[in-house]
Amino acid sequence: MISPTNVVLGAASGMGAATAALLAPRGRLLLADLDATKLSEVAAALGGDVDTIVCDVTRQVDVDALVEATGTLGALVVTAGLSPSMARGQMIYDVNLIGAERVVRAFESIVAAGSAAVVFASMAGHLVTADPDIDAILDEPDAADLFDRLDAAGLDSDEPGFAYALSKRGVVRLVQRHASAWGAKGGRILSLSPGIIDTGMGQLEASNEPAMATMVETSPLARMAAAEEVAKVAAFLVSEDASFMTATDVLVDGGCVAVTGGIR
Ligand SMILES: NC(=O)c1ccc[n+]([C@@H]2O[C@H](COP(=O)([O-])OP(=O)(O)OC[C@H]3O[C@@H](n4cnc5c(N)ncnc54)[C@H](O)[C@@H]3O)[C@@H](O)[C@H]2O)c1
Repeated sequence: MISPTNVVLGAASGMGAATAALLAPRGRLLLADLDATKLSEVAAALGGDVDTIVCDVTRQVDVDALVEATGTLGALVVTAGLSPSMARGQMIYDVNLIGAERVVRAFESIVAAGSAAVVFASMAGHLVTADPDIDAILDEPDAADLFDRLDAAGLDSDEPGFAYALSKRGVVRLVQRHASAWGAKGGRILSLSPGIIDTGMGQLEASNEPAMATMVETSPLARMAAAEEVAKVAAFLVSEDASFMTATDVLVDGGCVAVTGGIR
């Protein structure tokens, strides 16, 4: 039997790199990211049975090549993403939501008994008010008229803040939609919603949005998390210890959403 490959997509930095370090002792590891230089640095620091492949989640050809390079799927952790300070809204949907759908669909073809995926969403997705009409649009991420439909619903699809929160809400929903197909092959799939985490992305957003400091201060743990604290949860979720967990979102936010008042 060919031994399965564990994949981290978004492995070049932050929580992806931290998760890669935890999965490295578990067998063959394939690290993917858009950023070739940082990806090689992360892989070199880990050593062992680690391969890298450059992959842009907005490109179907890249995602198909990643699936091909994986072979038999063990764990899949998708941390690749853009935050509001990094791009315009439509680009954020393209990476966070349309890209996630592309990756989950492509990997579905190689799900086997014991495969497990975690796709990173965000606490931001828990803080938007539920609207069935918007959810119906988010539930068809690869519709050619996605942006027109969002605009027609009164949302500016190119506004980065909305795009971030809604794309992440869409990720939570897409995992739930795909879970039965994964389950039919013996696989599991979950989303993980981090709170405010001390990575390059977290620091960038905190420096551009002063309200985030208040959110941290008023949260039950009153601090940001280290990337490793979230990576440990991702590593647990793709392990056999989480064998009855699928089709759900795991919020790792130090209690932020509970005190801010999000979706219950
Ligand atoms: N840091 C936070 O506070 C925070 C909070 C909530 C959710 N998140 C989510 O967690 C995930 C990881 O965040 P992080 O803080 O580790 O961020 P990060 O910026 O350190 O890492 C994200 C990685 O995604 C890669 N990437 C970006 N666009 C890509 C593309 N098109 N194709 C492939 N790779 C691409 C980047 O090169 C980078 O290595 C993201 O999805 C983010 O939205 C982060």
